[in-house]
Amino acid sequence: MKFFLDTANLEELRKGAEWGIVDGVTTNPSLIAKEGKPIKEQIAAICDIVDGPISAEVVAVTAKDMIREGRELAKVHKNVVVKVPLIRDGIEACSALSKEGIRVNVTLCFSAGQALLAAKAGATYISPFVGRLDDIGANGMDLIRQIVAIYDNYDFETQVLAASLRGPAHVIESALAGAHVGTMPFKVMDMLFSHPLTDKGLEQFLKDHAKAFGN
Ligand code: G3P
Repeated sequence: MKFFLDTANLEELRKGAEWGIVDGVTTNPSLIAKEGKPIKEQIAAICDIVDGPISAEVVAVTAKDMIREGRELAKVHKNVVVKVPLIRDGIEACSALSKEGIRVNVTLCFSAGQALLAAKAGATYISPFVGRLDDIGANGMDLIRQIVAIYDNYDFETQVLAASLRGPAHVIESALAGAHVGTMPFKVMDMLFSHPLTDKGLEQFLKDHAKAFGN
């Protein structure tokens, strides 16, 4: 499974890049707004740090404007993937941009039917939101499993990008379900490292070594 960071924060991206485990980045208008810089500037800075697919989301809501905005965003860097919402105009924009060779990530997906529409429209990625479904008492991981099964049935090339992952369990379950990508906040990636037995074991190893050979 590929690991994407779901952040527009450059410090977090630098840290993730140093670890060597970040394959790409997803952003959304809320994450870009948090950093306070215009989207093109922020996306260009992100592309300098991470060499992989970088999702930049349009804020237009008509197909015509999404296509225009998508083309502009795609010009920022060859790694830019244009992100559009899963509404009728978003699917229309996805079809058009994909035909032009621009990669598209269709976001705000909450049902398998919506995921089918994105695949039919030639999306490179579909982003089902796991955490937000859990928030309303549904089972977000069931949706990941359904989409992976449906795409497998028909050999769709669209990749399942599990999004809105709120903790390590979401990442592990997405991997078990066969999601191609998991995008996660920096905090969640950092949490994947933690295990009390790792800390305890390392402490003991170093203590034993120091006892025998000194520091
Ligand atoms: O980038 C989209 C998605 O990952 C947002 O996650 O936690 O705001 O539901 P969240």
